[in-house]
Amino acid sequence: MTRQSTASITLGDRDISRIGLGTNRLRHTIEHVAFIRTAVNAGVRMLDTAHLYTQGESEKAIGAALSPAPDCLVATKGGYGGAGRGRPEVLRQEIEQSLASLRTDCIELYYLHRVDPETPVESSLGTIKEYVDRGQIRHVGISEVSVVQIEQARRVLPIVAVQNEYSLAVRKHNAVVDYCASAGIVFVPFFPLRGADEPRVRKVAAQRGATPAQIALAWLLRRSPAMLPIPGTLSLAHVEENLDAMSIAPGDDEFEALR
Ligand SMILES: NC(=O)c1ccc[n+]([C@@H]2O[C@H](COP(=O)([O-])OP(=O)(O)OC[C@H]3O[C@@H](n4cnc5c(N)ncnc54)[C@H](OP(=O)(O)O)[C@@H]3O)[C@@H](O)[C@H]2O)c1
Repeated sequence: MTRQSTASITLGDRDISRIGLGTNRLRHTIEHVAFIRTAVNAGVRMLDTAHLYTQGESEKAIGAALSPAPDCLVATKGGYGGAGRGRPEVLRQEIEQSLASLRTDCIELYYLHRVDPETPVESSLGTIKEYVDRGQIRHVGISEVSVVQIEQARRVLPIVAVQNEYSLAVRKHNAVVDYCASAGIVFVPFFPLRGADEPRVRKVAAQRGATPAQIALAWLLRRSPAMLPIPGTLSLAHVEENLDAMSIAPGDDEFEALR
């Protein structure tokens, strides 16, 4: 089986493998804390969480599992929920809570989860920059944005990652994917497995001896060198299966058939 041209990607100042783990259903239980440790032992090198997820339990479980976690980049987000959630005082409170829940002095990657329709993005990102300047946030990303909004954000501070919905089934952010690749920004597609149950995907999977989820992920990796999907799962078998997708490179004909 052909390999993807590279199994790692540069994010800010570190190289990490190109498939991470989404944790929006993770709870702060003994079982889920153990699951995170096992997933990292299995090779997960990026965990994606948010202040919002499971009312803060996702961040707490990751903090309990991984402090310290030199080998695994933990990304979190704040500022979700509509008008007012990107105000400086709201963001400061969320960042302080994330630092405490994750049991860290420095968040490796912090995304503005949504651009607040009533707060200038410069103000939200300026607040995040306060923490960058103090060494409490290392890298900054932004989520569910257009190219124009990314350019606006980059005038405030360096943006290393953009997290937008993207999958075989939902490709409205094609322009953002290509912009990120040309600008050296990592593109993190959320809901990366949407479309994996479609017949054309199942057909390629059967021909390859792979699973439909693996084909959906391999297609994303082939779609752009900037791509770092974060499939969400609570199953170790699925974690391993998803990481193994890095060893599948769809050929030109398969890539076009899936497109
Ligand atoms: N930035 C944003 O606004 C935003 C929005 C939504 C999500 N996110 C992030 O994106 C991550 C991914 O999104 P998501 O988890 O909602 O959707 P997803 O990754 O597209 O799909 C997750 C679903 O697929 C299943 N699954 C995972 N691996 C599988 C495999 N190998 N075979 C079969 N089924 C598999 C999971 O169930 P099992 O547990 O049974 O494996 C779960 O039901 C989230 O966890 C979150 O971190 C970000």
